[in-house]
Amino acid sequence: MGKVIVIVGGQWGDEGKGKIVDYLAENADVVARATGGNNAGHTVVVGKETFKFHLLPSGTIHKGKLNICGNGMVIYPPQMVQEINMLESRGFKLTGESLAISSSAHVITEDQVNLDKQTGAKVGTTGRGIGPCYMAKIERTGLRMHDFVKQDTPEAKRLRPFVKDTVYLINSAINAGKNVLVEGAQGTMLDIDHGTYPFVTSSNPTAGGACTGLGIGPTKIDNVIAIMKAYTTRVGRGPFPTELGTEDQTADEDKDSNITPEDLRKANSGDEYRAGKVLRKRGAEYGTTTGRARRTGWYDAVVAKYSATVNGLSSIVVTKLDCLSDLKNIKICTAYKIDKLVTKEYPADLKLLEQAKPVYETMDGWCCDISGVTRFADLPPKAKKYIKRLEELTGVPISILSVGPDRKSTMVLKPKELF
Ligand code: GDP
Ligand code: IMO
Ligand code: MG
Repeated sequence: MGKVIVIVGGQWGDEGKGKIVDYLAENADVVARATGGNNAGHTVVVGKETFKFHLLPSGTIHKGKLNICGNGMVIYPPQMVQEINMLESRGFKLTGESLAISSSAHVITEDQVNLDKQTGAKVGTTGRGIGPCYMAKIERTGLRMHDFVKQDTPEAKRLRPFVKDTVYLINSAINAGKNVLVEGAQGTMLDIDHGTYPFVTSSNPTAGGACTGLGIGPTKIDNVIAIMKAYTTRVGRGPFPTELGTEDQTADEDKDSNITPEDLRKANSGDEYRAGKVLRKRGAEYGTTTGRARRTGWYDAVVAKYSATVNGLSSIVVTKLDCLSDLKNIKICTAYKIDKLVTKEYPADLKLLEQAKPVYETMDGWCCDISGVTRFADLPPKAKKYIKRLEELTGVPISILSVGPDRKSTMVLKPKELF
């Protein structure tokens, strides 16, 4: 019997979903995206090659898989054509057998991109027309792929062979016992219902979005896995309780600067902004889609537990553990103090969230390079302890641990949670 595994972002996006989907795609027959559009930027590193995907599923660089762009997605045709051509020029030819774009997916128009560029600054959107396109969808005035490809334009002709009713395709694959991997985009805290509204995207990146965005019933899903960084990042505006330094400091930072000995010294003497800078530089925390510097902060177990709740997580994948290796002390947020109340629950009211002060637990850093480690047993004891503590506080098993961008820098801890 095959399995259906849904991958979601457990934090504010950019957790390393692309890397992990590529890793798991090896054993999948179908890789499908369900929500979002080219606001997503998913990076896959294989040896010397780097692939950046915005619309296509990260399974497209594996031979013999069916890749699906589901009905819940919003598609900007010039970007789709560009990505298909980019892959073709690198030796990965996509055919009607290997790529299916849902005929019911909505199309992002130039007007919608322009509107987002004019109005998106309050939220700090990616400016890709995502909000306006979902607005038109909900308002029932949107353009869908089946109508788009009837037009007589070069883009419509190029995309026509790929456009189909993907609901039957994906359900027949599931019924035939194939392994299906759903590649989430964005992250739980950017969910239009469950995230830090209004500083969110316009879709449901949480697990439920996989059902509506692909037309599969909840009873078909076997496992839901959230990808979480070993710390936290956020790009765009909005509250971020464990942020190190301020949004302005991040925006003002010189992009090309490196970590200096002074940065390290200060980071390890309690200067929060410097600790955040070290994480940003080590983790190359610059947006795959817009190039914006990402805000950085400590791991937030309140967010992680909330993510476990709204997604019904079966396990988590922790990425970028290697990026903490410079720090002598590493903090984990275990609760929020809001006025006099200490709570482990994420407040939906933004006014309360803005007042939340993190309650921290401090762990010892391991202070050595772990990027070459391939077995959990070979990690320094302090790194193992940190991982165990994340697992305990989140209340969900860790199935995979990642210590570098490459496919090879991946340790499977719980194979039964995977294909
Ligand atoms: P996504 O949007 O969730 O797919 O994540 P992005 O691709 O936007 O950002 C994650 C970045 O971290 C990418 O540049 C990845 O190559 C990189 N990455 C993923 N896992 C690891 C890891 O374990 N260690 C390091 N150093 N980099 C990683
Ligand atoms: P991946 O899939 C990180 C953020 C934007 C902004 C908010 C709304 O790579 O993890 P939108 O353009 O969607 O209307 O912007 O959501 N955002 C992301 N942040 N990763 C993403 O995708 C994101 N997609 C949207 O920065 O704050
Ligand atoms: Mg990304």
